[in-house]
Amino acid sequence: MSVAFSIPTFDQHPRPETLNLLIVDDERALREACKEVAESLGFTTFTAENAQAASRVMNVQSIDVVLLDMRLPGTNGLEVLKEIKRRQVDTTVIMMTAYASVHTAVHAMKQGAYDYVTKPFNLEELRLLLGRASAHVRLAAESKVLRESIKTPQSFSNIVGRTPEMEKMFRIITKVAHSTHPVLILGESGTGKELVARSIHFNGPNRDKPFIPVDCGSLVPTLIESELFGYVKGAFTGAVRSKDGLLAIADGGTILLDEIGELPVDLQSKLLRALQEKEIRPVGSTRRVPINVRILAATNRDLETAVQQGTFRKDLFFRLNVVNIRIPSLRERKADIPLLVGHFLERLNASTGVERTISDDALRLMMAYDWPGNIRELESCLERATTLTSGPHIHIGDLPTQVQNGGRPTPSESGHPSGVVPIAEMEKEAIFSALKRVGGDKMKAAKLLGIGKTTLYRKLKEYGMSAE
Ligand SMILES: Nc1ncnc2c1ncn2[C@@H]1O[C@H](COP(=O)(O)OP(=O)(O)OP(=O)(O)O)[C@@H](O)[C@H]1O
Ligand SMILES: [Mg+2]
Repeated sequence: MSVAFSIPTFDQHPRPETLNLLIVDDERALREACKEVAESLGFTTFTAENAQAASRVMNVQSIDVVLLDMRLPGTNGLEVLKEIKRRQVDTTVIMMTAYASVHTAVHAMKQGAYDYVTKPFNLEELRLLLGRASAHVRLAAESKVLRESIKTPQSFSNIVGRTPEMEKMFRIITKVAHSTHPVLILGESGTGKELVARSIHFNGPNRDKPFIPVDCGSLVPTLIESELFGYVKGAFTGAVRSKDGLLAIADGGTILLDEIGELPVDLQSKLLRALQEKEIRPVGSTRRVPINVRILAATNRDLETAVQQGTFRKDLFFRLNVVNIRIPSLRERKADIPLLVGHFLERLNASTGVERTISDDALRLMMAYDWPGNIRELESCLERATTLTSGPHIHIGDLPTQVQNGGRPTPSESGHPSGVVPIAEMEKEAIFSALKRVGGDKMKAAKLLGIGKTTLYRKLKEYGMSAE
């Protein structure tokens, strides 16, 4: 026989704080005992002595967990299970069965039952089982929400995010895109500073003109100068012909001075003069060349402190900081993680031609992790995971250890008496093994580590390490 159920779905009924449990058993004493235990655990309970009564309850109540007797008068528990699952696959069903029919219980689990308990059971056993079931229901609901947010991304020319912090940033970008003032873009490493700079340029009226990023952190000072200002033939050894500076080449477009905090002080003065006078003087020349370029600058350093310490010119800081955009770190907007995961997976799937998805557990761990390397770290974590995974699902085991451990090293790994490794030491070790793996190639090592190459250069300097 089949039982006609109509179970209200999640969406029609907002999920209450307490979970609803339906106890279906023909023995009154057992129903009462289960009811007492469940209510002490915070469930709201409903009881039914047979399939028809269960059906009546479910017509009017959304039920999260069902304790279902395998042998009911006039029907088989498996039939009832099938009907529940057909109507709403999310309901967590626990079968209650006599010892003799354990093999039927196993069969029930194959059909979607969450667990089973053999009769007679003691109350402690039931308490544990219900505790687990309620954790399961809550996690499943959470995963469902996460999954929904993966499905409906909203983006702003490739910048994925829809938390209020990001919405605010999008509004600022739209405004500044149409002005010509300098913009200072601030944010930790890997938060998307370059992406934001591009978006300011490509949303503005001069999007057809050049956008040129200049990395002030990785070029040697003399090279930055000749790149930005240009040089004339014979200006220095190797200058066999004249070359225009990027500030002139970008004519009508945008220059991004990336890692501006690393610009040496003498170049800071030259840059300031160029911005004030709107002209540059190529190295080795007396001739002045007019410039017409929009300046964007980006840094992960605290420039105000650098100004106070005298390593960054105050007047240049004011000149660049007409408007500033601070990009939130990923840990300040964790709600965007599922969206970003969906975005990167989609891109990786398109390039590998394999449809990969992420398991609930893996996604949950990624939500719990703090992402010190921000979006860049998240992106390389997924790249790595798609390479490691053998099947279509990315599991916990495919994630880097630090994500699996929630950012903590396991005591056994640390080898420190306190069980805790200082962060600097972990970082040094990570840099060392990355460089070793790629034979000293800094670009590749930075990519593996999920940090920018400038950050890598800085850290190498900081730790007195050489790439060799
Ligand atoms: N909101 C975002 N949505 C999608 N991708 C993003 C987002 N933010 C950053 N990314 C991606 O993350 C990576 C790092 O971004 P980007 O290079 O702009 O960061 P950055 O702040 O300049 O980093 P660094 O300080 O290390 O130079 C890039 O591959 C970029 O495309
Ligand atoms: Mg950058």
